[in-house]
Amino acid sequence: MPTTNQRWVLASRPEGKPAPENFRLEEVELADPGDHELLIQAKYISIDPGMRSRLSADSYAAALQVGEVIEGAMVGEVVQSNNEKFAVGDLVTGGFGWQSHALSNGRGLAKLDASMFQGPLRVTAAIGVLGIPGLTSYFGLQDLGQPKEGETVLISSAAGPVGATAGQIAKMKGCRTIGIAGSKEKCAYVTGELGFDACINYKEVANLEDAIKGACPDGVDIYFDNVGGEMLDAAIANTNERARIIISGAVSEYNKAEPRGIRNTLRFITHRLRMEGLVVFDYFKQFRDAQAEMGGWIMQGKLIYTEDISEGLETAPAAFAGLFEGENFGRRLVKVN
Ligand SMILES: NC(=O)c1ccc[n+]([C@@H]2O[C@H](COP(=O)([O-])OP(=O)(O)OC[C@H]3O[C@@H](n4cnc5c(N)ncnc54)[C@H](OP(=O)(O)O)[C@@H]3O)[C@@H](O)[C@H]2O)c1
Repeated sequence: MPTTNQRWVLASRPEGKPAPENFRLEEVELADPGDHELLIQAKYISIDPGMRSRLSADSYAAALQVGEVIEGAMVGEVVQSNNEKFAVGDLVTGGFGWQSHALSNGRGLAKLDASMFQGPLRVTAAIGVLGIPGLTSYFGLQDLGQPKEGETVLISSAAGPVGATAGQIAKMKGCRTIGIAGSKEKCAYVTGELGFDACINYKEVANLEDAIKGACPDGVDIYFDNVGGEMLDAAIANTNERARIIISGAVSEYNKAEPRGIRNTLRFITHRLRMEGLVVFDYFKQFRDAQAEMGGWIMQGKLIYTEDISEGLETAPAAFAGLFEGENFGRRLVKVN
């Protein structure tokens, strides 16, 4: 049985981009599971851009304290159990963060039905396309966006897990779907495998507002925003009347002490725009139904997903920092050896 746990904790609050010295790898002794407790050995952990804000301050959840384990989702295997609901060998998922093992009393822990994960549905999907990123796209686009056939949907960070899933759902709803991404390779993936109608490489255009105008000649009806900042303003400038702007994330702002802010507010009046922020956990009670539907789409080949997996718990901080350099191609995970 394992006797030690390796875990990444917050060593200091980052200023600007996260740096190696903001994280500390600790090795601590593992306690034996007590009554009704179980021990989980991590197989994969998730690396999430939204975690950046909570390393500095409160977000929709409280800020992480210095010395606490960095949060993230985990897929793991039960290796010891005193809990009648979980047996040794069960695959489980929960929010246990960047560590090799977790003790749990079963609360907040979901058992994965191993028979469900076959063919294109890999077990990692539980913390990716069927986890928080995929659910963010599913509820953000459909509930806040209310897409209608023939409308134009613009999506930033389109090659990332949230953007990629949102775009494929928008296509299923009969929308003209345009992505924005940060490289030629990402744009080729967005228009190729993902089936978007067009993709703007924002790093190559002289003026993003004009580039959006060119790619969306009929205007933008829904903007699914993962980036914020200047990109948000360039999208707002191209909106149609009654357009919906879904604020999923603001990855271009997370490392800034002072956010840039929205400048183009007059258009909210002239074009009767609606902008709404999304917290995916508000839909918690509907997660199971959404996962069943998306799982079906994956099995039918209607929804695809790409994962970008690095090997070894020690790679977690670099994998995290790379998110803010556009390094990831798909859902960033770490395989825990
Ligand atoms: N509201 C919610 O409940 C909720 C839940 C989960 C996630 N989110 C948010 O959803 C967004 C997408 O998350 P994700 O997991 O799919 O990650 P992601 O889109 O893969 O995020 C990383 C990507 O963001 C882009 N990026 C990084 N810095 C940028 C900058 N300065 N300007 C423009 N683009 C930049 C890069 O892609 P390029 O190479 O294309 O630049 C990078 O590869 C994030 O903002 C996240 O916080 C929200």
